[in-house]
Amino acid sequence: MNLPQPEPSLFVVMGGTGDLMERKLLPALFHLSNEGLLGKECQILGVSRSKTMNDESFRAWALDALDKAEGVERTGRGTWCSGCLHFQSIGSGTPADFEALAQRIRDLEAMYGLPGNRTFYLALPPRAFVPTVSGLGAAGLDSSRGWTRLVVEKPVGRDLESARVLNAAIHQHFDESQVYRIDHYLGKETVQNLLVIRFANPIFESLWNRDRISSVQITVAEELGVGDRAGYYDNSGAVRDMIQNHLTQLLALVAMEVPVRFEADAIRDEKVKVLRAVAPIGETDVVLGQYGGGEIDGRRVPGYLQEEGVAPQSRTETYAAIKLHVDNWRWQGVPFLLRTGKRLPKRTTHIMVRFRRAPVSLFEPYEACRLHNNEFMVWLQPDEGFDLRFEIKRPGEPFALTTHTLDFRYGEAYARLSDAYETLLLDVLIGDQTLFVRADEVEAAWGLYTPVLEREHEVHLYPAGSWGPDQADSLVTDGQWAAV
Ligand code: BG6
Repeated sequence: MNLPQPEPSLFVVMGGTGDLMERKLLPALFHLSNEGLLGKECQILGVSRSKTMNDESFRAWALDALDKAEGVERTGRGTWCSGCLHFQSIGSGTPADFEALAQRIRDLEAMYGLPGNRTFYLALPPRAFVPTVSGLGAAGLDSSRGWTRLVVEKPVGRDLESARVLNAAIHQHFDESQVYRIDHYLGKETVQNLLVIRFANPIFESLWNRDRISSVQITVAEELGVGDRAGYYDNSGAVRDMIQNHLTQLLALVAMEVPVRFEADAIRDEKVKVLRAVAPIGETDVVLGQYGGGEIDGRRVPGYLQEEGVAPQSRTETYAAIKLHVDNWRWQGVPFLLRTGKRLPKRTTHIMVRFRRAPVSLFEPYEACRLHNNEFMVWLQPDEGFDLRFEIKRPGEPFALTTHTLDFRYGEAYARLSDAYETLLLDVLIGDQTLFVRADEVEAAWGLYTPVLEREHEVHLYPAGSWGPDQADSLVTDGQWAAV
């Protein structure tokens, strides 16, 4: 089957000289263009408040950004930048500024013979979302003679109420079918492959329920600290920054029922049902932590409170472990454990499905025959792939069992995996909403965590370089956190 080719369009990035554009969007767009995946014509318009930047300086800035980006082809950058990048200032965002943007868009479309297909990508700080959406709407940029799509970066709100307000502001101008809320985890290859593993392999799907599964763990561990993002992070914390979106999306994909079709709304319907089936989260099912100073890879690193820009008495959590219960027929009684933290010993993202042990062990009379649970590991990073851990007899005598692993790694089987942003940008351009989060999904997720955020929880100190507060161990009732 041929890949659908994007139609000619104008790709407008609001926040066009910001960090996201520099690190992710530009390299992804350039790579897609190089691979011939952007279709016949895709012109890119960067929009920012700068009053001094123009097409020429924007192209120079973009070229520099591509030079700094890792893994981007070296040839053709200059030609690409001068051939399809443009700049427009939005000044202080007055109605006249948005009118000027609308005029520039019409001019570019006329110059390049574009049919009026437009993407508006909000690569902006959250406070700018509503004014920008309203500004676009008021200038008539919410529709055109072609299609118009709006891409919204996270965070979509900071609790249920603010998410509703933002969704309502978006829906004043844009229909949900035009809206693409990004959760970049959904663009990762292994995340998409979860659906294939589950629904193309009956051997897994037939085991995928409370009769066979004892628990599911989802871990996103980062070695990095808060870096230079304290201004944002200190008002956010791990539950808002990671759990509400990335980890909850993974949970929904692991737990969802078989969709009726492989199609955006059918899949998203099933994800929402999972979120709605999650029981209210109990106070004792939440463990929060904040990193103190410590050592990672033999290097001393400062504690969170010593990081630049963090409030001196901050109680913001940099670690969260939460136990959830999906109260439906498939999952009744199976704990889902979500865990994420900064300054943990290594960067790893994985899902562990732990199966129930054999009800009776034939081998117990023998020494060294303690049975372990079978485990299915889905590795999302750094090395995407799968492991199946199972018991075998160790060769020779005395009779003993040991755990072995069947593994598959994408890196060994395929040359290069797409970056999540490449996948997601291409999907926006071809109009496929499957990997984007729908308004009701976002709100259902906030509905789960808003009571947690509103409750006072103790924030335990953990040393940088450790696996987080010991208190989190008690959340696991069928063994330990996954061994990595
Ligand atoms: C972002 C969070 O959404 O995801 C960051 O805001 C986090 O705090 C990042 O570091 C992790 O993404 P990845 O793809 O590196 O796991």
